[in-house]
Amino acid sequence: MSIVLTGDRPSGSLHLGHAVGSLESRKKMQNDHEVFILIADIQALTDNYKNPQLVQKNVLNLMEDYLAFGLDASNIFLQSQIKGLFELTIYFMNLVTLGRVGRNPTVKAEMKQKGFEDSIPCGFFCYPISQAADILAFNADFVPVGDDQLPMIEQTNEVARSFNSHYSPIFKECKAIVSDFSRLMGIDGNAKASKSLNNCIFLNEDSKSVKDKVMSMYTDPDHIHVHQPGKVEGNMVFHYLDAFDSDKEKVQELKEDYKKGGLGDVVLKRRLIEVLEAYLEPVRQRRADLNKSDLMEILNQGNSKANTKVEMLMDQVRSLVGVKLSF
Ligand code: TRP
Repeated sequence: MSIVLTGDRPSGSLHLGHAVGSLESRKKMQNDHEVFILIADIQALTDNYKNPQLVQKNVLNLMEDYLAFGLDASNIFLQSQIKGLFELTIYFMNLVTLGRVGRNPTVKAEMKQKGFEDSIPCGFFCYPISQAADILAFNADFVPVGDDQLPMIEQTNEVARSFNSHYSPIFKECKAIVSDFSRLMGIDGNAKASKSLNNCIFLNEDSKSVKDKVMSMYTDPDHIHVHQPGKVEGNMVFHYLDAFDSDKEKVQELKEDYKKGGLGDVVLKRRLIEVLEAYLEPVRQRRADLNKSDLMEILNQGNSKANTKVEMLMDQVRSLVGVKLSF
């Protein structure tokens, strides 16, 4: 069976952008692949080391979001509990130059965004190497991620090639799986839905707040009267209908009507509310059935499975890199 590995930093609740960007493909793949989902607490500490409580609190939040979404056939585990990952990171560090990490576009963008330019902590700067270890330690075939993670996958495959040619070909190159909707836009029309921009709908949002958020969505600012023709492009209600409404024909019809004029924003928004409620209601129900001790049990099982898998590989790695005592 092919192996899928992916993960998230536990730094906030998951939202609809995560759902279409990566959770959906994980859910599909968990039936016919061996899926590992890593809660990247160590990676989250690289830019939150001053706020460890936030990371810790969000580990459980993330677990809850995963299980509420239906990722119950996946192996969910905590990065910090798999010590082989850190050891592998250290060996990989010999194979990557500072210059190469510095050219990683995702790291560059994050450094700018976090104001790290002048005093970048090594831990943060080198996290792509630790992410390569996360992926290669499982010899993953597929990595479902948002498109912002593509440079990480490219770098991971470089590390694999470098290790394979220096030592022995034990690592597979992995393939990123990016969804068609890898970048859900914000409800305000911003290019990306994100927690920090406060323009997203969370998986744990209640009905009232889903309604309020949809009602406040950015549509076509020039569509003032119902009878006027409206714009579909850049209209967030249509963008979300495209992402979540499974009745594509109906959406197409609505688009035609809206373009002609005569279809009001409120009618359209009511449809989106219905669609999102149908999407979120099962998530809410599964969440209501979760309890903390089950979560801990599921996490322990995931940790133990992940650890066994990584240790098998590390045994080979240790002899190849020259740290296995043999006298
Ligand atoms: N970088 C990812 C994020 O910011 C989290 C992550 C850590 C990850 N290790 C991974 C994703 C391995 C995919 C594979 O959310």
